[in-house]
Amino acid sequence: MTLLHCTDVTKRFGGVTALDGVGLEVSAGEIVGLVGPNGSGKTTLLSSIAGSLPVTAGTITFAGKDITRTPPHRRAHAGISRTFQVPRPLESFTVAENVATACMFGRHALARTTALERAVSVLDRVGLAGHAERATAALTLHERKFLEIARALALDPQLILLDEVLGGLNPAEATAGMELIASLRDAGMAVIYIEHNVKAVSTLADRMYVLSQGRNLASGAPAEVLNDPKVISAYLGGAVDARSQ
Ligand SMILES: Nc1ncnc2c1ncn2[C@@H]1O[C@H](COP(=O)(O)OP(=O)(O)OP(=O)(O)O)[C@@H](O)[C@H]1O
Ligand SMILES: [Mg+2]
Repeated sequence: MTLLHCTDVTKRFGGVTALDGVGLEVSAGEIVGLVGPNGSGKTTLLSSIAGSLPVTAGTITFAGKDITRTPPHRRAHAGISRTFQVPRPLESFTVAENVATACMFGRHALARTTALERAVSVLDRVGLAGHAERATAALTLHERKFLEIARALALDPQLILLDEVLGGLNPAEATAGMELIASLRDAGMAVIYIEHNVKAVSTLADRMYVLSQGRNLASGAPAEVLNDPKVISAYLGGAVDARSQ
């Protein structure tokens, strides 16, 4: 079943066309990888789906409803949540309070005590249960990235949008992150996953989309996409073997 459907999505910032007629589909329970060079429009597409950026043209439907003009908080209530490329926790809150805040403002609008209980179980899911009472400002990059995922999970999404959540992590942390992302799919969530590490994306994703200069360059099964000469020359510069990245 198609959960998300983006058709001809165009986004202009003044004279800059960040997205130019982009199409993307996500089915329930699949991981869709989204790759492309810096500035190709990946984050802009994620923000367009989450609703924080209004699109210039095109249509976005979610669970059969047109959400193109729906404000971001209503999309969150409908089941779409996202992480930010640069984590944005509330620095003066503890780790648990950060997640609890998301629970309180999410679609279930939990009361504070219930929200704190749920926060602990969400933190457990991302491996941060032991850090619940810590000050957010003291977290490492890896912990901040996983807290960012926990905050998105707190909204109990059907579709989770992950923007470079494994960027800057060491191999062991990245492996833990990939296992976590796979577990989200196993729990029935659909995932759109932006990543610079092409190997990580191709290992995890059921399907991939490649953007280049705001346009769809290729899409399909990871093995097909990585062997597509257009992708090799436009995205990887021709000389690089995509599978060893
Ligand atoms: N708020 C904005 N105002 C003006 N231009 C923007 C804005 N956000 C993005 N852009 C431009 O839109 C284009 C796409 O940017 P975007 O951040 O979506 O790319 P990206 O693929 O996520 O890149 P990266 O891999 O570096 O994160 C770029 O040319 C960027 O400069
Ligand atoms: Mg980006």
